[in-house]
Amino acid sequence: MRLDKAVALAGLTRSEAKKAVAGGRVRVNGQVVRDPGFPAEPDAVTLDGAPLGATAELHLMVNKPAGVLTATEDRRLPTVLDLLPEALRRRGLGPVGRLDRDVTGLVLLTTDGQLAHRLIAPKWKAEKLYRARCEGRLGPAEVAAFAGGLALSDFTAKPARLEILSAGTDESLAEVALTEGKFHQVKRMFAAVGHPLIALERRRIGCVALDESLAPGAFRPLTEAELAGLRALCGLDAPEP
Ligand code: URA
Repeated sequence: MRLDKAVALAGLTRSEAKKAVAGGRVRVNGQVVRDPGFPAEPDAVTLDGAPLGATAELHLMVNKPAGVLTATEDRRLPTVLDLLPEALRRRGLGPVGRLDRDVTGLVLLTTDGQLAHRLIAPKWKAEKLYRARCEGRLGPAEVAAFAGGLALSDFTAKPARLEILSAGTDESLAEVALTEGKFHQVKRMFAAVGHPLIALERRRIGCVALDESLAPGAFRPLTEAELAGLRALCGLDAPEP
């Protein structure tokens, strides 16, 4: 296949792949090749030193729009995998944890099951940061309630950091940081303090923040630094060079 097409398997658009080739970031059998039309098998190609073949790991961030399921397939509704081009859908990517259908923002997709598992396992305490718009005026009482660990009907939430960004009579905007992710947890915590959610967006997982340049439904590969940060966070060594 053409070299730019092989490079696009890493999650780049064809024009980004062409730029990466022209910029000398791509090697075929260890040699830099700058011709995007050069014939190459993905197994022989590296991008920034990382292999691109079918067995190479792939890690993407997606800006999930409302109405899309955090699942790999569904017979009725679009899933986060449907946001990707066909070639990437066949790579064995799975989501790291879940966002509810109506919740927007950062979803990580990876082929690395161990990384995915550790990023949601309570043991590694990977922090998830959400931006929440809720009914009514938030104040110090809610900050204290979140910090103290809220008792919900079936479990007590671990202490969570609530930062109020704006508070009005009708609605407030806040950020909340959690290291656990039980079913509907953020919605339930806001409901428990009497401020039902209007909208919820995930902004960060560990060291990886949602890229502000990604429109809803868009995706991009994680950078090497983002991946290294996530791996370090959950006790996984850097991959062999
Ligand atoms: N908390 C929720 O209530 N929903 C989500 O999707 C994520 C966190």
